[in-house]
Amino acid sequence: MSEQPLNPTPAGSHDADVTSDATSDPSAADEAAALRAASFERARRLRMEPRFPGGPAADPAGSHHERRIRSFQPRRSRVTTGQQESLERLWPTWGLDIDGKRVLDLAELFDGLPVVLEIGFGMGEATAQMAADDPGTGILAVDVHTPGQGNLLGLADKAGSTNVRVANGDAVILLREMLAPESLDGLRVYFPDPWPKARHHKRRLIQPEFLDLVAPVLKPGAIVHCATDWEPYAEQMLEVLTAHPRFENTAADGGYAPRPAFRPLTRFEGQGLDKGHVVHDLLFARV
Ligand SMILES: C[S@@+](CC[C@H](N)C(=O)[O-])C[C@H]1O[C@@H](n2cnc3c(N)ncnc32)[C@H](O)[C@@H]1O
Repeated sequence: MSEQPLNPTPAGSHDADVTSDATSDPSAADEAAALRAASFERARRLRMEPRFPGGPAADPAGSHHERRIRSFQPRRSRVTTGQQESLERLWPTWGLDIDGKRVLDLAELFDGLPVVLEIGFGMGEATAQMAADDPGTGILAVDVHTPGQGNLLGLADKAGSTNVRVANGDAVILLREMLAPESLDGLRVYFPDPWPKARHHKRRLIQPEFLDLVAPVLKPGAIVHCATDWEPYAEQMLEVLTAHPRFENTAADGGYAPRPAFRPLTRFEGQGLDKGHVVHDLLFARV
């Protein structure tokens, strides 16, 4: 079966990949198919369950089973004791699973603050810094990476920040199923995975179909802020954002923007700079 683009399948329609054995005995084939379906279902349920009591679910919307190309590689990374402690203690208050089943009430979630969505916060150091620097803005921070979720919760807790919510799961499902029209005041995507190999370019997040999902949930005038140290991806970002009818470049010359003072140096940015890469910021307004 060929892979689909980033966003075609609604959450909930996850095909079980059950192929029947070619066998001459139809009842044996049925039994084998039923067994395979049951074991698939068991594995699916296990993957959706939290790794810690009351913690984030491993795959809350069954996104890993959707037949579409994802911008991340599902992986089960090691969680440190400190991150686990933060997840167990703080997830019930500050975390939410992207289950694709409800539309979030952002006003309630953030006590009426304007809300920006950050996709792919990694280990969350920059997110925690921005939250502490600007307590008047709520940050809905999304990632699939469990150690990073624990790390960000711990950092925000240490700083006493109450304006961060950590969302666990695939941002595409969040945008597609869980955000009301014109509910966001901005979108931040800092150093998204560059997927440098040509055969992986389709996994890059910033694409026309992704912008089609983003545009309706942003308020008019809201800023999409992207940054990358991967030159070919920066060029792609500039091209697709410029071509999209619902976004307008805030840079007067139609090119890259100076890095805004509020964006701290991120972990991935530091690694890119160490390799001599040049960093580009892009700021586009939703028209
Ligand atoms: C290269 S890292 C950058 C992390 C951080 N922004 C930084 O600059 O250090 C990209 C992150 O995006 C996350 N990510 C990629 N696609 C995602 C998606 N569709 N939904 C949620 N997180 C995603 C990955 O898990 C990873 O943590």
